[in-house]
Amino acid sequence: MEDAGPIGVFDSGYGGLTILSEFKKQLPEHDYLYLGDNARAPYGNRSYDVVYDFTLEAVNFLKNKGCRLVIVACNTSSAKALRTIQQQDLIEMDSDFRVLGVIRPTTETLGELSNTKHVGILGTEGTVNSNSYGLELKKFSPNLFVTQQACPMWVPLIESNKHLSESGKAIIKEDFFELLSKDPSIDTVLLACTHYPIIASYLQELANKKARIISQGPIVAKKLKDYLQRHELMDKTLSRNGKCVFLTTENPEVFNQSAENFMSMKVNSIQIKL
Ligand code: DGL
Repeated sequence: MEDAGPIGVFDSGYGGLTILSEFKKQLPEHDYLYLGDNARAPYGNRSYDVVYDFTLEAVNFLKNKGCRLVIVACNTSSAKALRTIQQQDLIEMDSDFRVLGVIRPTTETLGELSNTKHVGILGTEGTVNSNSYGLELKKFSPNLFVTQQACPMWVPLIESNKHLSESGKAIIKEDFFELLSKDPSIDTVLLACTHYPIIASYLQELANKKARIISQGPIVAKKLKDYLQRHELMDKTLSRNGKCVFLTTENPEVFNQSAENFMSMKVNSIQIKL
């Protein structure tokens, strides 16, 4: 068996840090290798082929760095690339290397959180148009009413730190109320993009008591913990020194500064090329 390695966590940019923060809370002993493809973010409006190529490059990179498990902490990549990677590419790689996403663990849980059984999904165009959430939710909660809204400007606003400017807030408000107006019975709104938790409190303010805003980080982290308890052999291949290393395809100083908005810790990133 190869040496134990960190858990790889991949996102198009900063969003996966909201997932990593929860991993660190629920699995603090493990090591993590985070990769943000900031140079090519956002992925949200890109084609299937491009998202697949970029995601596979990132997964291969993390594998070559010694990760035995990679979490694709990006809904757009999970929606548009993960299935092909799992069903086609992993077969050609070693049998004990695994790649997991964020959509399946979230949809296993979401139905339980709604009283009215009417949920709203906010995501990138890629995630919403793929209907991955609609299809997965049908499997686990067949009686759930699912309404989706694409928010194409939210990731660019968040990546450029303009989400709390007056014009940024106006765009966010318009998309959010558009979702709620499509189905007034929605009582639970899932942030199906890992960037969005950074505006969760603003959205909760807008929703008032009418709907509960759900970030997926805590759900995905709990499911990963359950997964590792059920897959002891995989868990044994993961190193445990409580360390986190951050890689970005863009300027590391910019990454370090912005990353602090997503994680309450100092980040010292390294620039890489994919
Ligand atoms: N954090 C990614 C997601 O969850 C953002 C995708 C993008 O880069 O547009 O979908």
